[in-house]
Amino acid sequence: MAVGIFDSGLGGLTVLDAVAKRLPEVPFVYYGDNSHTPYGTRDPQDVYELTTAGVQRLFDAGCDLVILACNTASAVALRKMQESWVPKDKRVLGVFVPLIEALTERQWGDNSPPREVAVKHVALFATPATVSSRAFQRELAFRAIGVDVEAQACGGVVDAIEDGDMILAEALVRSHVEALLRKMPSPDAAVLGCTHYPLLEEVFSDALGPGVTVFSQANLVAASLADYLGRHPAMVGPGSESLYLTTGDPRRVANKATQFLRRKIDFTAA
Ligand code: DGL
Repeated sequence: MAVGIFDSGLGGLTVLDAVAKRLPEVPFVYYGDNSHTPYGTRDPQDVYELTTAGVQRLFDAGCDLVILACNTASAVALRKMQESWVPKDKRVLGVFVPLIEALTERQWGDNSPPREVAVKHVALFATPATVSSRAFQRELAFRAIGVDVEAQACGGVVDAIEDGDMILAEALVRSHVEALLRKMPSPDAAVLGCTHYPLLEEVFSDALGPGVTVFSQANLVAASLADYLGRHPAMVGPGSESLYLTTGDPRRVANKATQFLRRKIDFTAA
């Protein structure tokens, strides 16, 4: 029994932490493509090829269900994977939909027509590839009307986090928030549309100021996965061990992961 969690690097650990707390009986296999991070500045074909390679490795490790804990892969590659690549007995789910369902006050899987919702002005912070895909706006338009979205491509933030340079990451976040607020002075909600960003959630909240509700994915994805596994218990695959895989240097990645999650984590080579 194992569920796979995929990310380009360390960001998916924010999702892994939340799902492991929510579902302590489920073994999770994590795959961080640290040697190819960041994905957010790559072209769609590149993201597709790297994502399918990583997801295949998770299938091989005994996972029948894989969560793309990476907005860039969810935005750029997931639809094509679901249409033409994922085998019939496997599932790959993204992290966008649970977030948008929460933002638009919907129950999981509610596919009724779009309607007016409480939020009117949404600030989206994401990688350059996610922003240019417009996947967030597309998914939102299926569920809500009259919501104004201003997107800020947060160049450099993922690289700084992966390098462990949190001072640079914080400075970049503050300048991206300032840039967003120049375009949309009073957002009522902000979406952290990259799984690396919850590692800097306090900085985003502080820079945005009071009155802005910050939506971050980890707990939303955990709740939605718990609901999904309740409805599809057989999708917990045959793997029985939790495992942390990386395409990068396992020792270096383990040190950073331990620092971020404040518990010891050992990585092995993917
Ligand atoms: N954490 C990922 C995301 O949610 C990937 C960031 C990147 O590799 O650029 O978009």
